[in-house]
Amino acid sequence: MQFNPVTQRVIERLKQIVGEEHVLTSSEDLARYALDEIEERYRSLPEVVVKPRTPEEIAAIMRLANEERIPVTPRAAGTGLSGGAVPVYGGIVLSLERMNEILEIDVDNMMVTVEPGVVLGDMMRAVETKGLFYPVDVSSLESCHVGGNVAENAGGARAMKYGLTGQWVYGLEVVTPTGEIVRLGGKRIKDVTGYNLVQLLVGSEGTLGIITKITFRLTTKPKYVLDLLIPFDSLEVAVAQVLDLIRQEIHLAAIEFMDSISVRAVERYLNTRLPYSECEAHLLIQIDGMEEGAVWEAGERVYHRLMKGGAKEVFVADNRFTREKVWRARREIAQALKAFYKHVSIEDIVVPRAQIVKAVQYIRELSDRHRIETPVYGHIGDGNLHPTPVCNERDEQTWDRDLEAFLIEMFRIVHNLGGSLTAEHGVGLKRIKYLPLVMSKTEIALMQAIKKAWDPNGILNPGKVIPLELNV
Ligand code: MLT
Ligand code: ZN
Repeated sequence: MQFNPVTQRVIERLKQIVGEEHVLTSSEDLARYALDEIEERYRSLPEVVVKPRTPEEIAAIMRLANEERIPVTPRAAGTGLSGGAVPVYGGIVLSLERMNEILEIDVDNMMVTVEPGVVLGDMMRAVETKGLFYPVDVSSLESCHVGGNVAENAGGARAMKYGLTGQWVYGLEVVTPTGEIVRLGGKRIKDVTGYNLVQLLVGSEGTLGIITKITFRLTTKPKYVLDLLIPFDSLEVAVAQVLDLIRQEIHLAAIEFMDSISVRAVERYLNTRLPYSECEAHLLIQIDGMEEGAVWEAGERVYHRLMKGGAKEVFVADNRFTREKVWRARREIAQALKAFYKHVSIEDIVVPRAQIVKAVQYIRELSDRHRIETPVYGHIGDGNLHPTPVCNERDEQTWDRDLEAFLIEMFRIVHNLGGSLTAEHGVGLKRIKYLPLVMSKTEIALMQAIKKAWDPNGILNPGKVIPLELNV
């Protein structure tokens, strides 16, 4: 795909649209928008950064970009893990950071309407002041923006009970790649009028439209929450217990998993200690509900099953301090690994839950055979793991080659187990070349046709999700 460079004339027109102070061109500014949380080697500079405030400004930018055939990469907080916000073809980075207002908390309809640049944690706290609850607790909740959560269909620990972001998205205002403003969905709980374009936009990774308003459905905050940290001597036993718990129909909000490399890294990073951190694996389980008795009863059932099933101990985090300590440890694993290793590739596989034992065994075996240390952590209750190949010794070239061989084999295995290559981080830039390993040509061609219908010139976030060329 051929794009044109951003000329001085284009920059002048962008300044007319959003105001001079919201158009950035200095090399330091451009460098700040060249990467998200993907690995450093994917860094790619934009030619200009624009920070619009309204959908009308965005529509004008998109019309200009279309006329000039300039690529546009939308960006929320830049906390994504698959390179969705990296401007691979240069061009314009369209940052939504100024669109950061909570527009309405509608208590009667139990909905909140926000702009895309609101920080997730701020929105969660704001709705809680009205007695409402937004349950999707993405690990980066204190820095990520809700617009990015919708674009990536972000998950997080409580997806097991509450689903992914998309499950809570009911209305969207979107600027199309050709510069129209459209409103999709709304505050209607049920609506089957036509194709579900709201859910098409959810998880489209900024390739089909730019999200400018979101209406989320809310629920009631559970009154009682119990968090349990459970060490196991054997990783296989820990994983097998997850299946057992799910089959027992103990309704849990989250079952998280951390292997010993992950636990040791995060202990060092946060300068803290978790109980029995020498153990091979830890589970972190959350139980929530409206009735104290029911929550404790579920907790006891978990305790008895796991103690019988090989747990070393079951630790109860029942106050704010201990709860924060264990969850912080879980949430900061990725940051810890990044701090201690030169090469870190955070993966995001998913398998049917009945296959998690096999998946973990295969990853261990792969890691030994390829001699690549691979900490594993993640949302095991959903069958979603973050195996993270890491390394300090290899040079860039050797690492690229070895990692590629490792990943291809891992994705093939995962596919054979009925799984796929990303559950919540997105295909982005990082996994686009592996898509044919898990998807048929027909499926990819259908996606390309959808992309073409929304974005005939292919200027919105090119190089992400699906290959631009029509013949795979
Ligand atoms: C997590 O599970 O912690 C997040 O998906 C991603 C991360 O920061 O690794
Ligand atoms: Zn995750």
